[in-house]
Amino acid sequence: MKPILIAGCGDIGQRVARLYRVQGASVWGIVCSETSARRLRAGGIEPLLGDLADRTTLKDQPTAEAVIFYFAPPPAQGERDPLIQNFLATIDPVRLPAKVVLISTTAVYGDCQGAWITEAQAAEPQTARGRRRLDAENILHRWGKETGVPFVTLRVGGIYGPGRLPVVRLEKGLPILDPVESPYTNRIHQDDLARVCKAAAERGVSGEIYNVSDGHPSTMSQYFIDVAKALGLPLPPVVSRAEAEKVMSAGMLSYLQESRRLENRKMSEELAIELRYPDLAAGLAALKRN
Ligand SMILES: NC(=O)c1ccc[n+]([C@@H]2O[C@H](COP(=O)([O-])OP(=O)(O)OC[C@H]3O[C@@H](n4cnc5c(N)ncnc54)[C@H](OP(=O)(O)O)[C@@H]3O)[C@@H](O)[C@H]2O)c1
Repeated sequence: MKPILIAGCGDIGQRVARLYRVQGASVWGIVCSETSARRLRAGGIEPLLGDLADRTTLKDQPTAEAVIFYFAPPPAQGERDPLIQNFLATIDPVRLPAKVVLISTTAVYGDCQGAWITEAQAAEPQTARGRRRLDAENILHRWGKETGVPFVTLRVGGIYGPGRLPVVRLEKGLPILDPVESPYTNRIHQDDLARVCKAAAERGVSGEIYNVSDGHPSTMSQYFIDVAKALGLPLPPVVSRAEAEKVMSAGMLSYLQESRRLENRKMSEELAIELRYPDLAAGLAALKRN
């Protein structure tokens, strides 16, 4: 089996690693903290401790004929992603990988005013967060064309699942936007995303972009309400958009500026994925069973 190298081996990386480990593959994971390195080792993943911001720390990466998953987020500031640039620059041209799969985000589309969109939608990010992701996509695209290494880009919606739910927010009783004014959001369960990543490595067509979501978007407010009900937490108070501007964090407000609904047909058909959690209700029902 080809070696697996996961650059940014956090939650999703470790889920992907487990899918390969059960098949007997060797998996390496790049992380930047000792704690994460210990966690990887305990999970049978060979840790590579390094900082993607500093090329000199990226050593001994088993890139030759490897399948590389690039999952590290861009830096928190600026409009560029120097981290993926550094990572790709350290790959020795005589040790090229077999394929690279990148996790990007749907923020690259910008606001679509709630429309259903496919991968044909133009990327017009309206936030620095979205522009950094598009920069990462472009860097991989250029490198893939230059080296001839096949690459696939996944534009992923909001990831949810155990440990990734807005529990603290709901416990604090923070408000949500009036559902009538709330934008649409798209979601994917963390375990389904890991399976999509592996499918993209196996069946994704080089140079292609795949939207990754369960295909059942709802408004952001409805999401908070559904999670509260599933977890038996109090329903959050509702505020108007004008009130939200005063009481919500800048981060939350930026998410409320963009609304789009993702078609996931290309993912389902070309990557031949049947989701375990085809909608939020299925994902939340599984929480109760576990
Ligand atoms: N949250 C969402 O809903 C959402 C939606 C779409 C896409 N995404 C993106 O999906 C990707 C995977 O998500 P995830 O939940 O698996 O992320 P995660 O758990 O935060 O994992 C990210 C990993 O990247 C490593 N990393 C970060 N900066 C690094 C650096 N400078 N050098 C070396 N390693 C570095 C971290 O190492 P340490 O563990 O040592 O810190 C961590 O292991 C991320 O890019 C995320 O932004 C998220």
